[in-house]
Amino acid sequence: MSPFNKVPTPMLVPTRITVSYTRTAKVLHWLVALFILTNFVIGLCMEHFPGYTHTSPEWNGILFWHGSIGALVLWLAVARIIWRKSHRPPPLPASIPRWQVRMAHGVHGLLYLAMLVLPLSGYAHRVAGKHAVNFFGLWNWPNLFAPNESLRVLFGTVHVSLAFGLAGLLVLHFGAVLKHLVINRDGVVRRMF
Ligand code: HEM
Ligand code: HEM
Repeated sequence: MSPFNKVPTPMLVPTRITVSYTRTAKVLHWLVALFILTNFVIGLCMEHFPGYTHTSPEWNGILFWHGSIGALVLWLAVARIIWRKSHRPPPLPASIPRWQVRMAHGVHGLLYLAMLVLPLSGYAHRVAGKHAVNFFGLWNWPNLFAPNESLRVLFGTVHVSLAFGLAGLLVLHFGAVLKHLVINRDGVVRRMF
């Protein structure tokens, strides 16, 4: 074995980073992630409970939780965006190609957008159907516009489509997390823990 083999080639040494997101950014990221995934599961299950029709008390009961958790996502996302705008995120390692950085920013931007528009479309769907939207039994959100059947159907379609759009973005997000964890091993994932 040649002695030269023992000298690490700079190109092969992964660029590692140590700076991480602030504690607040991490707490907000994981709370929003937990609530979105919970609401996704509730949303998918609620249509399939036996006896649940769109007018039954049980349907309103499950929407009490689904809508309240959705509102939490909305306000935590607002807090998250304000925090993100006022705190610079840790730098990415220089080894990441520019196109991947742009793609990550694009997916993150769309995730932020979905965190806002998805709960709002659910709220609009309910209000257009003449329902009050409650927050954990504490208060009802104001019904900001008059009931309207075509809007109800439209917002329902938008809500369901956005939910699946968000699921697609999360597949990309998890894929990137796995790639950095298993292939690149560059410390990117640890910044969010
Ligand atoms: C993070 C927030 C939210 C997520 C991830 C989410 C997700 C979902 C999902 C996956 C479905 C089922 C789609 C299907 O297969 O039919 C659904 C349905 C529904 N969601 Fe949400 N939702 C959120 C917020 C809200 C909010 C704030 C409300 C307002 C009360 C709401 C009201 C509804 C209603 C009424 C349906 C039934 C739609 C229909 O069948 O026409 N959602 N949601
Ligand atoms: C509903 C679920 C989730 C949503 C909506 C979400 C959203 C986001 C967003 C918007 C960012 C960008 C932060 C910023 O710089 O502003 C981010 C970063 C990150 N997320 Fe998630 N995330 C979710 C779940 C997860 C899960 C389950 C993991 C890990 C297994 C994860 C790991 C990370 C990591 C490591 C970063 C930092 C990456 C970077 O700065 O480039 N996320 N997430």
